[in-house]
Amino acid sequence: MTVSPSFAAAAKQGRVLIAGATGFIGQFVAEASLEAGRTTYVLVRSGPSKAKTIKALQEKGAIPIPQGNINDQEFLEKILKEYEIDVVISAVGGDSIRDQLTLVHAIKAVGTIKRFLPSEFGHDVDRANPVEPGLAMYIEKRTVRRVVEESGVPYTYICCNSIASWPYYDNTHPSEVLPPLDHFQIYGDGSVKAYFVAGSDIGKFTIKAADDIRTLNKSIHFRPPCNFLNINELASMWEKKIGRSLPRVTVTEQDLLAAAGENIIPQSIVASFTHDIFIKGCQVNFSIDGPNEVELSSLYPDESFRSVDECFDEFAVKMKDMHQEGAKDDGIAAQNHVVEKMLPITAMCA
Ligand SMILES: NC(=O)c1ccc[n+]([C@@H]2O[C@H](COP(=O)([O-])OP(=O)(O)OC[C@H]3O[C@@H](n4cnc5c(N)ncnc54)[C@H](OP(=O)(O)O)[C@@H]3O)[C@@H](O)[C@H]2O)c1
Repeated sequence: MTVSPSFAAAAKQGRVLIAGATGFIGQFVAEASLEAGRTTYVLVRSGPSKAKTIKALQEKGAIPIPQGNINDQEFLEKILKEYEIDVVISAVGGDSIRDQLTLVHAIKAVGTIKRFLPSEFGHDVDRANPVEPGLAMYIEKRTVRRVVEESGVPYTYICCNSIASWPYYDNTHPSEVLPPLDHFQIYGDGSVKAYFVAGSDIGKFTIKAADDIRTLNKSIHFRPPCNFLNINELASMWEKKIGRSLPRVTVTEQDLLAAAGENIIPQSIVASFTHDIFIKGCQVNFSIDGPNEVELSSLYPDESFRSVDECFDEFAVKMKDMHQEGAKDDGIAAQNHVVEKMLPITAMCA
């Protein structure tokens, strides 16, 4: 489909409202929106703990909307109208998925929003079927999808697969830990492949797709061929960065199911997703051929993705910087100690 220049120009002007812009994925989306030159409003729910993040976004041009809770329909309707919002993107976290139902009702009531992107940013939740407790989150995401579809609100679902960080199975959040320096945990035989996408690319392509007419009422699947890797390949890539081999310890399917079964939130959710990705192959066991789905590269064939290799370079530099600056916080200090012991700092990122 060819997009007319007038549509493209109008789309560029689209005013974006982002819920969850202070979060891990939301920050990438907000930064990409600002980089694309869009007028970008960010709902700010949090208090002083996120002040630094909000200030950084503000310095790049974001317009914060204080007291911005997506639970408050009256407030949402007011700001959607007042700021003449065209595109609403939600990147609220896993424990707030159902809160989006109020947001959908507000968007429906206002009636002028051209596109809504709910908080997905992972797998196709209608296809993937992780064990509990991950399943509970997918059921909530599916519920949001059904309410959006029934409401008639124009939507796009971003199925970006895995973020390009080290896929720990027993961690609380991918933003919190750098790749390992002591040993690798290899899931099963380590041969099941997955797609890894840099956070900045998740943001960039989310914004590109946000009012592309070709993504209207569709799921967009991110499958960058250059970042299609299994866990053994990821481990080898990281070994090259740190200049040494690390022991590989097998985490079996039973181990993952046991970790999921402990039902410790959020770690057990991560274990259930890890099982789904690296044992069941949930990212690769289907073709993208439905009428309401499209593969991202077919939309933007000239756009490149950042490679996992580049992302690993960045992690290595980050470790080096952390080591050199010294850490005050206990967690970082502990990791720094490991860096000091294990990493040939001078040999990194040549
Ligand atoms: N593909 C992947 O590898 C990957 C990795 C991580 C996450 N994800 C997905 O990405 C999405 C976002 O997750 P995340 O980890 O980035 O979340 P996160 O870091 O926990 O951030 C959540 C954000 O949502 C905001 N928020 C939560 N409830 C809200 C409410 N009621 N009203 C307004 N704002 C609210 C939070 O604001 P406060 O600052 O006030 O708390 C925060 O800004 C989820 O759908 C998750 O499943 C995917």
